Amino acid sequence: MADEWTKLLDVADCSVGSRRFVATHGKELAVFHLSDPDRFIVIDNACPHASGNLSAGELENATEIVCPWHYWAFDLDSGECTMNEAVRLNRYDCKIENNQLFARLSTPPKHHKD
Ligand code: FES
Repeated sequence: MADEWTKLLDVADCSVGSRRFVATHGKELAVFHLSDPDRFIVIDNACPHASGNLSAGELENATEIVCPWHYWAFDLDSGECTMNEAVRLNRYDCKIENNQLFARLSTPPKHHKD
C-alpha cells in the first residue's frame, strides 16, 4: 500500500500553466502544472487555513497559489505559507509514466521541510 501510485490524469489534459481539480480515492486534490522547470505539484485541494478551494486560486510569482477565500499565499514547491509559517500545504509525491500523472496518495502529507 505504501508504494501504491494512483493515476490522476493524462498529462495532455493539464497543460503547462494550468491546474485541475481531481477527486479520487476519497481525496480532493489540486494538480498544478508549472514551468521552469516543467513539473507537476499535487496538493490537498482544501486550504490548510479554513478549507478554501485552492484549485480556484490565483497563481502569482510563478510558484505561489493564493487561496480565494482569505488570500493567504502558499509556495507550491515548499508548501510554505507566506503569511503564517505554522501553516503548510499537504503535498504528495507524484510521477509521470506513459504520459499519465500518478501520485502516491498514501504518502503522509508533507507538513515539514524534507
Ligand atoms: S481558507 Fe484559505 S486563506 Fe482562509
